[in-house]
Amino acid sequence: MASVSLESIKRKFNNVTAIEDITFDIPDGEFWVLVGPSGCGKSTILRTIAGLETATSGKLYIGDKLMNNVPARQRDVAMVFQNYALYPHMTVAENIAFGLRMRKIDPKVVQERVMTVARSLALEHLLERKPKQLSGGQQQRVALGRAIARQPQVFLLDEPLSNLDAQLRDDTRAELKELHQKLGITTVYVTHDQVEAMTLADQIVVLNRGRIQQIGEPQEIYAKPANRMVATFLGSPPMNILPAKYVAGGFAVDGQVLPVTAYMQDKLHLREGLEFDLGVRPESININEPQRRREHREEELGELVVEVKVVEPLGRETLIRASLPSSGVLVNVQVGADVRPRPGDRLTLEIDLGQLFVFDTATGDRLYPPSAP
Ligand SMILES: Nc1ncnc2c1ncn2[C@@H]1O[C@H](COP(=O)(O)OP(=O)(O)OP(=O)(O)O)[C@@H](O)[C@H]1O
Ligand SMILES: [Mg+2]
Repeated sequence: MASVSLESIKRKFNNVTAIEDITFDIPDGEFWVLVGPSGCGKSTILRTIAGLETATSGKLYIGDKLMNNVPARQRDVAMVFQNYALYPHMTVAENIAFGLRMRKIDPKVVQERVMTVARSLALEHLLERKPKQLSGGQQQRVALGRAIARQPQVFLLDEPLSNLDAQLRDDTRAELKELHQKLGITTVYVTHDQVEAMTLADQIVVLNRGRIQQIGEPQEIYAKPANRMVATFLGSPPMNILPAKYVAGGFAVDGQVLPVTAYMQDKLHLREGLEFDLGVRPESININEPQRRREHREEELGELVVEVKVVEPLGRETLIRASLPSSGVLVNVQVGADVRPRPGDRLTLEIDLGQLFVFDTATGDRLYPPSAP
């Protein structure tokens, strides 16, 4: 096992800068997740660590060894891709053993390792089958097994679950987490699925346009996103962004006014006419009905009237897709399963001002809540 460190890694393809100034330090044994929209540079970072891509500048260390000029096969990393390439003419057992056979490891040791890996991935009963006799999920587990059998210093996984159906994806995700808890191998995992990022990561690295937006524990990133991009990327349904202008004592939103708390007043440099983007998570909104009122003091609540567009019952809860009446800005609201308004209804939303985010409209940086309380 080993730590993985990137220092100002940059990769250009001709004139296109795919990643820039990528710096992070993964301690030995941790599970880190790189997340971000398509094209943000996730695979490029992973491939650079693997040695399949050469950094244009910057330094890469695995353990304390500088890796920039070390060929891929000497890096002792195992990579699993989205399109797991199994050898079709080999059995599951032979596929898992392949990397070990290549290294001329004692056949008895190989046999033992294949069995251990097969047991931990529930593949024992499939060892004699060929890949085409397996389901997609089973094939993906074989690809993982082949990587695990090698017992590398570092695992690099590039969207390994994205070809699986929803149920299998959930199951395999949990298996991966369990496996990591058992083996403790340093892992870098790439996904654009924020649920995978939240559930698997010790630390999440959020990327956008080739640059790091934020690094932190999942809960920390959720509670204190560095900027609007991070805020809207992690969370489902995403955080609502409401354009607002500061007017005497409040934020004008779509011709309505949300009050500004004394604390917010103190932390934000508010001037008449300044524009902001307010961030409201769908779960920090309640429907304003007297019997539902939470134990809030009046001044910590704001109200907004919206028009219901679509109502989606999700079993445990209801998702209401609404819009602000004048501007048409969309507002997602997550409420209890028993709340079922109809399309076209006007609803008064009760907004918990304690959970409000404020972003700089131009830069997207988070201004509130403040970094230091
Ligand atoms: N070989 C290449 N030649 C030119 N441009 C490339 C090459 N590989 C990647 N890029 C560009 O670099 C950027 C980052 O690509 P990368 O594959 O790392 O993104 P990604 O985050 O993995 O995206 P996805 O989620 O779609 O897999 C993209 O703009 C891409 O077009
Ligand atoms: Mg990719």
